[in-house]
Amino acid sequence: MIHSLFATQIHQGSLGLDARVRAEMKKTALNLRKIDEDGIEWCRTNYPNGYTSYGSISKLHEQFTAFERLKRKLDPTVAAFTRKLGLKFDTGDLVLSNLWVNVMPKNCYHAFHLHPLSVISGTYYVSVGKGSSPLRVEDPRASKFMATPPRKIQTDLKPRDGDVILFESWLKHEVPPHQNSAERISVSFNYDWVGR
Ligand code: NI
Repeated sequence: MIHSLFATQIHQGSLGLDARVRAEMKKTALNLRKIDEDGIEWCRTNYPNGYTSYGSISKLHEQFTAFERLKRKLDPTVAAFTRKLGLKFDTGDLVLSNLWVNVMPKNCYHAFHLHPLSVISGTYYVSVGKGSSPLRVEDPRASKFMATPPRKIQTDLKPRDGDVILFESWLKHEVPPHQNSAERISVSFNYDWVGR
């Protein structure tokens, strides 16, 4: 037999959030892109062509009802995912620390990175039309392959509007250059282990 050990688990599925809430998030994201001066400045060097509130307004769930409603759906989904992963938080809690919007016009991309201080990270997809960039994830064993023959080390996940994707924060991921003229709008977030 062959044992499949230490597999990387990624959750993807509809979050079941009302489409009106999604529309509200889209409106807020597009509005922030116009008025968030600190964010616009931050994006100039850190997020070429696009807008993210990551560097300026990263606790949207504390400021806007629509994002607070998103959090209420995320909390139990993330908790169920961590149970599936076998993670236990005997002391302290796993809590939503940051939640921010991303607006990607054509040719915007977000290079490979991970979220080193968090346990679970993920993205809720507000508006990803046909032909929108996928979420690309990298095999976490990639740095260990050494003399292994060339093999596929990246996989693309294609989200639909209303989907959430969750993964452990050490998993490297990117959004390759967005090729569609319709903007790709999403909300990303981190869950941290606090009070341990
Ligand atoms: Ni990320």
